Amino acid sequence: MPDLDLPQRQATDTLMLTGFWYRALPADRVHRNRLHKATLLEIPLVIGRDRAGQPFALRDACPHRGMPLNCGRFDGENLECGYHGWQFDVEGRCIDQPCEPDNGRAHRDRIRQPWYPVQERYGLAFAYMGPPEKRPVLPYWDALEDLGPDETIFATDSSFSVGGDDSVKIIPWNWLQDWENSTDPWHVYILHTAFSGSQFAPEMAVKPEVKWEYTELGLKYIALRKLDDRRELDRVSPLIFPNLISTPDVQLAPGPTTTVGWVVPVDDTHHRRFHAMKVPKNLKGRPRQMYVEKRSKPWIEMSAAERQMFPSDWEAQESQGPIACHSEEHLATSDRGISMLRRLLRQQIRLVQEGSDPIGVTFDPANAVFKTGGGNFFRTAAAAPA
Ligand code: FES
Ligand SMILES: [Fe+2]
Repeated sequence: MPDLDLPQRQATDTLMLTGFWYRALPADRVHRNRLHKATLLEIPLVIGRDRAGQPFALRDACPHRGMPLNCGRFDGENLECGYHGWQFDVEGRCIDQPCEPDNGRAHRDRIRQPWYPVQERYGLAFAYMGPPEKRPVLPYWDALEDLGPDETIFATDSSFSVGGDDSVKIIPWNWLQDWENSTDPWHVYILHTAFSGSQFAPEMAVKPEVKWEYTELGLKYIALRKLDDRRELDRVSPLIFPNLISTPDVQLAPGPTTTVGWVVPVDDTHHRRFHAMKVPKNLKGRPRQMYVEKRSKPWIEMSAAERQMFPSDWEAQESQGPIACHSEEHLATSDRGISMLRRLLRQQIRLVQEGSDPIGVTFDPANAVFKTGGGNFFRTAAAAPA
């Protein structure tokens, strides 16, 4: 099959991916007077919250001699590097160099540490790391809007939806392997059902009819299952640029999806998962959306042999290597979604290289609510189109 070999290095190096807002940390973990570190798109960041409550992010390497600023001190207004005491405000201006004559007044204005705007939404902190003149509006997602009176948003950076665990935050392989997995409905039928036992709803054992379509924001698959003489199910799962998923409930809770996930590149061989989901305000324990797979015991407690015998998403994606080698694959008709995605990625990269804006960004605050479109849509067979 032609045209499928996307060098992944290219994907992480392009404006198409840097010109978006990226999840950096759960917002409730960005504390005042405490510095945090995170790596996004290969850039080390120090993240904090100033005295006024506004989160900030700077490149986490002192411009003097490279000590990470997260090892320094923050007084609610300025950061002080622990090595020689240079100080910076939260927009990277150097305001003190205590070991220099006259505290560096003559030269310190020439130093400007890279800093990145941060915004909070849905309980998560987003950093924008693209060019200032291309800074888009941070969008809203309809799956997380219009909360009922008894609902709230729960946010997490657990790797649960890759088959991992709350304690595991950094996933050791390229982000695209993970994102592509969400446009592969056939692995639900085999890996999660026929091969490793029924890890999702038992109805996943019904062989689906699958089609993929491009959308305004990316692409989606529609997996149609004829459950019995009377009931049919359309399982609609979108991929949204640059790195979003909105996977329908795998236990087949009916209706539109109430979860949005972000597959965030840390570097070429590591990524993170962030999720926000609608939950009841009086939620006790974990949200139902986080009970993803039924396995004999939690993944974190499984031995290597047990994982090998009963693999799930983690094992499938990890075994592709730190960066899957596309030239070794043999994509087939059931991989149509993956080839469509790679084609769209390449096309969008080209667009950005030519100076245009990719899909999935808006510069208009009045037009910033995006539709996710995923869900489990049941219908009676009688009502189905002929
Ligand atoms: S390395 Fe930061 S002040 Fe010297
Ligand atoms: Fe899966």
